[in-house]
Amino acid sequence: MKASDEFSRRVLTWYGHSGRKDLPWQKDPTPYRVWVSEIMLQQTQVATVIPYYHQFMARFPDLNSLAEAPLDAVLLQWSGLGYYARARNLNRAAQQIRDQYGGAFPETIQEVTGLPGIGRSTAGAILSFAMGQSHSILDGNVKRVLARCFAVAGWPGRTAVSKQLWALTDQLTPRRATGHYNQAMMDLGAGVCTRSRPDCKTCPLVDICVAHNSGETAKYPGSKPRKDIPVKSVKMLMVLNQERELLLEKRPPSGIWGGLWSLPECPSDHDPTIWCSNQLGIEGTLRGQWKPRRHTFSHFHLDITPVELTVDGPANCVMDGNHRVWYNSASNDSHGLAAPVARLIDELQQRLPGENI
Ligand code: ADE
Repeated sequence: MKASDEFSRRVLTWYGHSGRKDLPWQKDPTPYRVWVSEIMLQQTQVATVIPYYHQFMARFPDLNSLAEAPLDAVLLQWSGLGYYARARNLNRAAQQIRDQYGGAFPETIQEVTGLPGIGRSTAGAILSFAMGQSHSILDGNVKRVLARCFAVAGWPGRTAVSKQLWALTDQLTPRRATGHYNQAMMDLGAGVCTRSRPDCKTCPLVDICVAHNSGETAKYPGSKPRKDIPVKSVKMLMVLNQERELLLEKRPPSGIWGGLWSLPECPSDHDPTIWCSNQLGIEGTLRGQWKPRRHTFSHFHLDITPVELTVDGPANCVMDGNHRVWYNSASNDSHGLAAPVARLIDELQQRLPGENI
């Protein structure tokens, strides 16, 4: 028996008793349902994804409903999951499938990787899970299992390391039962071969794992070279009018929180009341400044100092097209909110008992 056959045989046997078989997208695994799940799972763990997945499927049960939906509606379903480019790409890819493929999910790896937001590994996962095709995958979990088992040194974000890992996954992936094998590798990485404190005694590969045998699981996969990311600071203005409604602004479509609703941001070295008057045409009174909190993006930290202001007189002069609204959580208008803004609104609500914002 070839060594690669022995490897996949062990992985598939493990899948039989310990793999996940009742995830929501595994019931009726159409390409659409599997695609949405794989995009949600790209940066988010299964337990977090499941409730979002059910809500998303209830709102957008098929490809056509997602293609026809305004981006705002998609972002709203996504709010809380983070990495919003994923939601924008889902919406765009659904439109592309509607326009270029007559609404039928494409069936070749070349076509699927041509869709926005779908790389080689995600395409392999979709086609193996939903269509029974044989394609290898290499997501973060699989990278960890292979890097340890075969002692592949270096950070997988480096091209040379990634090439070695792809070569391994291509060699080891069986032609038959590929979907089960791929799911098993993901599950092994997520539940057994975890980043810290892997549960090696339950691993089907324990005796051939080079990292385990040399007591060096912590060394693999190599980590990203550390680079200090810059810190930006802003004041986020929580401007409340006399109806206790909060002023929200829509972010531009690209960039951080693209298309989501957020609070007006005043440069950290400006006086918020003067800024409010000059930029928003609102005369307000400063009610307090909260202690700063940090929100970290992949490429910078954002230190947010929330500032509470109330509008002195009736304020209806600042509406700027559809980009600003007076928000009231009691009304049924739903807005996709940037996650730190949603948290601030919750806090504000708690500090103003009995009042709806
Ligand atoms: N991560 C990415 N895809 C996954 C899947 N299908 N099951 C579990 N974890 C995953």
